[in-house]
Amino acid sequence: MHPDSKSINSESISYELTQAGDRYFDGMAEKFSRSLYQAPRGELRLAMLDYLLPEILYLEGQKVLDVGGGLGQQAAWFAERGHCVTMTEPSADMLSYAQTWHRDVKTLPEEAITYLQAPLQRLTEHAAGPWPLITCHAVLEWLGDPQAALTCLSHLLAPGGQLSLMVFNRDALRFSNAVKGNLEKALSDRLAGKGKRQRLTPISPVSHAEIELWSAENGLRIDAVAGIRVFQDYLRHPPATPAESATLLALEKQYCRHDPHWRLGRYLLYTLIKPEIVK
Ligand SMILES: C[S@@+](CC[C@H](N)C(=O)[O-])C[C@H]1O[C@@H](n2cnc3c(N)ncnc32)[C@H](O)[C@@H]1O
Repeated sequence: MHPDSKSINSESISYELTQAGDRYFDGMAEKFSRSLYQAPRGELRLAMLDYLLPEILYLEGQKVLDVGGGLGQQAAWFAERGHCVTMTEPSADMLSYAQTWHRDVKTLPEEAITYLQAPLQRLTEHAAGPWPLITCHAVLEWLGDPQAALTCLSHLLAPGGQLSLMVFNRDALRFSNAVKGNLEKALSDRLAGKGKRQRLTPISPVSHAEIELWSAENGLRIDAVAGIRVFQDYLRHPPATPAESATLLALEKQYCRHDPHWRLGRYLLYTLIKPEIVK
């Protein structure tokens, strides 16, 4: 167990949140890899990030801090494009899974990735930067206090720096619950997961209105926003052939930045900018 964690027993199931109410993914690496990245939704997410990141970020080989890097896909993506990446992750399991996988990826330049086992809240001590580029994808929704986390991230950013932030969209979660027939849940807005067992329903899903508010509070400007996986979860007939998958990807690409479609993306992807200091 991580030293910051406490164990909670409910109906004889043991699960853990940290004292701050965060859900580290200890013991989840296999499950996370299987149910997300070895499934069509993970493939689509990576394909959309591959398409969107060069469009909505200014990339010039700058150093990257990847916060809550999980299994290491994003760190590898940047390293393959010539960036030096510091991948941080509080879960020893996830970090070692990422390191083992990175060792096998032939296209990764040696020593392009540095690993740091630490939670976001401790990065001002361990990786203060300031950083020209920070990625924090699908992490805020696993924290007890996502608003405070955005403040931490803004302190780590250099003036003029970019934060690539991706969050699990609370409004899309309501919509998908309704589509699945969980009408009571949607009506009473009981959407958050509890971080129990190996469930992957986030404990703190985030809305666009919250990101607007929290960004403004921290002096960050929203430079771009896109929805990731706008349509995929609602298809009555999921793609059955590579050609159908390609058509779905084309559809997702076409509307991911169009209002109103992006607003119901399963995830919302932002580029947030910290303004330059005006002399
Ligand atoms: C859904 S995974 C996302 C991983 C990766 N960024 C991705 O997009 O695939 C959430 C990750 O956040 C990590 N996490 C949980 N609490 C955290 C914290 N306080 N600071 C940083 N990462 C945290 C978990 O251990 C887990 O690896």
